[in-house]
Amino acid sequence: MIRLQGVEKTYRTRRGDLVLAVADITLDIAENEFVTLVGPSGCGKSTLLKLVAGLTPASGGTIRVRDTVVRDPFPDVGIVFQHPVLLPFAPCSTTCCFPLTCSVWIPKPIGIVRWNCSR
Ligand SMILES: Nc1ncnc2c1ncn2[C@@H]1O[C@H](COP(=O)(O)OP(=O)(O)O)[C@@H](O)[C@H]1O
Ligand SMILES: [Mg+2]
Repeated sequence: MIRLQGVEKTYRTRRGDLVLAVADITLDIAENEFVTLVGPSGCGKSTLLKLVAGLTPASGGTIRVRDTVVRDPFPDVGIVFQHPVLLPFAPCSTTCCFPLTCSVWIPKPIGIVRWNCSR
């Protein structure tokens, strides 16, 4: 069960401007329910996924996954990003499993992903 209550996300740009990306989202997603987020570019779809995965902190509201409040990334949520952070040399299954592989022996796997992609 994923439960979002009044979730909000405001980014601050490098220039200091505030961008309201997600506002007042309340949503329950049941176990095994398949949900698609649909909307125009820039409406906050990716931000909402990052919030649920714990990759970025919410500015307001509460996100729970199986009754645990999401504050940080956690291992049983997978996310397949759009082009810039995929591994172009690897099949989809390897890309999906890569963070799990790294989490066993590397404390900061995202640093290794960037290192690989830049070569
Ligand atoms: N890191 C960021 N810093 C500032 N603004 C951002 C950042 N990421 C996304 N945004 C802004 O938040 C809004 C929602 O972006 P996003 O979640 O990527 O939308 P979508 O995935 O629906 O295209 C957009 O206005 C986007 O420019
Ligand atoms: Mg997006």
